Amino acid sequence: MRAGDVSVRGASAKDAAACVAVYRPYVEDTAISWEIDVPTVSEMAARITGLRDTHEWLVLEHDDRVVGFAYAQPLKRLPALQWSAETGIYVDAAQHRIGGGVALYTELLRRLAGRGYRRAVAGITQPNEASNAFHRSLGFDDAGLYRRVLWKFGGWHDVAWMQRDLLDDGEPDGAPRPIE
Ligand SMILES: CC(C)(COP(=O)(O)OP(=O)(O)OC[C@H]1O[C@@H](n2cnc3c(N)ncnc32)[C@H](O)[C@@H]1OP(=O)(O)O)[C@@H](O)C(=O)NCCC(=O)NCCS
Repeated sequence: MRAGDVSVRGASAKDAAACVAVYRPYVEDTAISWEIDVPTVSEMAARITGLRDTHEWLVLEHDDRVVGFAYAQPLKRLPALQWSAETGIYVDAAQHRIGGGVALYTELLRRLAGRGYRRAVAGITQPNEASNAFHRSLGFDDAGLYRRVLWKFGGWHDVAWMQRDLLDDGEPDGAPRPIE
């Protein structure tokens, strides 16, 4: 998928180092990421290959350089929750507000629906007006607030949850599966 001078494609293990580079400042400097330690390149490669098979992992390119990524993972590893996916997105700060996030998430949500996922859910550490507005602009609605669940940088943080329907409420036709 290509929009303007940014493009979106499925990720592979070869994109792991670039994804770590995008992710690093959000782990080290903010509570947006819930992680304390930056994942290694090999750990990132394992996440990419694992989630690409069961859910999705996409990268955003600008001038043929990876400047963002979006993925989905299980909301919880329980059979009755298998049709709900938790989404995440990180775009290099130097590339914000040029439509890259929308390009990534539009393709992510399209592919998740194609696999048979019914609900996309995002947990957003507060405050994060950019992410709140971004998710609202893509049709996510407020689902609730977990208060003071995240301890990072010597303080407790709230996590707001937002969700969006991907498909209807009919009975699932089997487990989510790769797009043919
Ligand atoms: C949230 C994020 C992914 C948005 O990516 P982006 O590429 O900058 O977003 P886009 O340019 O596609 O913006 C799409 C829309 O989102 C909303 N939006 C994005 N950034 C915004 C901001 N700073 N303030 C208000 N609205 C914003 C707007 O509605 C925007 O449309 P517009 O530019 O036509 O007004 C990006 O800010 C980011 O990576 N933030 C840090 C990581 C993060 O918070 N990830 C989400 C964790 S839950």
